[in-house]
Amino acid sequence: MAPNNVNVDIGVFGLGTMGSALALNLAENGFRVAVSNKHADRIPVFLAQANELAGNLVGYPDIAEFIASIARPRSILFMIPSGAPVDAMIDVVLPLLDDGDTIIDGGNADFHDTRRRSAAFSGTGKHFVGMGVSGGAEGARHGPSMMVGGTAHSWSLLRPMLRKIAAKFEGDPCVDHLGPDGAGHFVKTVHNGIEYADMQMIAEIYGLMRDAGGFKAAEIGAQFETWQSGPLSSYLIEVSAAALQTVDARSGEPLVDMILDKAGQKGTGRWTLIEALKLGQSASAIEAAVGARGWSSEKDLRVAAEPLLPAVAHKAAFPSPEELKSALLAARVLAHAQGFRVLAAASDEFEWHLDMTRIAEIWRAGCIIRSILLDDIADAFRAGLPEGALILSPSIRDLLAAHLGGLRKTVAAGVSLGIPVPALGAALAWYDTMRTAKGTANLIQAQRDFFGSHGFERIDDPGVHHGDWKPIAVS
Ligand code: 6PG
Repeated sequence: MAPNNVNVDIGVFGLGTMGSALALNLAENGFRVAVSNKHADRIPVFLAQANELAGNLVGYPDIAEFIASIARPRSILFMIPSGAPVDAMIDVVLPLLDDGDTIIDGGNADFHDTRRRSAAFSGTGKHFVGMGVSGGAEGARHGPSMMVGGTAHSWSLLRPMLRKIAAKFEGDPCVDHLGPDGAGHFVKTVHNGIEYADMQMIAEIYGLMRDAGGFKAAEIGAQFETWQSGPLSSYLIEVSAAALQTVDARSGEPLVDMILDKAGQKGTGRWTLIEALKLGQSASAIEAAVGARGWSSEKDLRVAAEPLLPAVAHKAAFPSPEELKSALLAARVLAHAQGFRVLAAASDEFEWHLDMTRIAEIWRAGCIIRSILLDDIADAFRAGLPEGALILSPSIRDLLAAHLGGLRKTVAAGVSLGIPVPALGAALAWYDTMRTAKGTANLIQAQRDFFGSHGFERIDDPGVHHGDWKPIAVS
């Protein structure tokens, strides 16, 4: 049994993959950590596996003892499934807390839940933090990127610990206090939306190379590997290159060829676009990526459809590796630009005053979307954006100008050859929409006014107008 009143620095409740990794990271960085878990038998197993770090860890099957062991004001990190389990755990822990104590939810929570919980804590003397943690198990163990939302009081408690355990980009810890209540979880949600888009766009380039280019998985992986040394350098390219070159021990085939093409999703990508739509935005590349995961699940339909709906493929020049690389880079820039637009819209809506430069900075290391591009994006934000639009930043414009041709050629090839490129295509369509000063919504307005008398603005006369439409007889 662990001693009472040991005054540890922080408590971690939830010893699943992420909770265990964060507890070990904290312990390795010299913090004393109390741990507990819903299933108490996990605690001794975890402590035994902690080896030399066990000296900084103390386990408590009993929640009251667990809470009592933490130095006040307390920091208690929940690493448990999001949703109802968090509410249930708050109910258990809250009566054991004192004024100034903070509960931190480190899961992938819906930021609306985080706002609701923060509001419930407000004025009670206790604090609630929603913290997005990115980087998977490896990141959590050796340096994640963390996005914190909550009170200044909580941040002052957490700051020394989180800065120590965070990933570092050229010495700068990839963690910050981004705003109150749901700000951290919202930023993490958008991170995941960008993650979905980036993964999908990489998969689309893979699909083109596999199905139209006739390349083998390992060849595509080797090609991706060469891109790691240039402007596409990123964790997701690195992961994809390695995965494509991995051989399945059972079949001797490339492992990716043995994996069923149905992708799962836990919801964060979907939340990004739901919130984007509610905020009057469309993060179309993210939307395409979430949609493509949904379509991937319709395996039976796709199997039935393939022979019935043959591609009417037109001849198209297959893009060069350089053009494919450009396509991915330009589309990545556009997907990030869309994600940051969603963040800006939410920041206005919820009065969070999000610091976009800092968000780009803390995404440069540790998290799943970490990439060399994020350093350029941070520079662009720092320099100031015309119209608040990342795509209008001079440096980003230069990047797009250099690589847009490759994206256009790649999307054209996909369309002509019948290879689906929904996210690349969506990114390009958004770019073309944004660079078209005179769009086509004048006709949409005419249609709306024609059938619903919704009114329209004229270009030559302010106010609401109606057209003198000739009614069409109901047939
Ligand atoms: C991260 C990831 C992580 C996420 C997984 C799975 O930043 O470390 O975003 O939080 O849970 O990537 O997400 P899906 O199951 O939705 O693909």
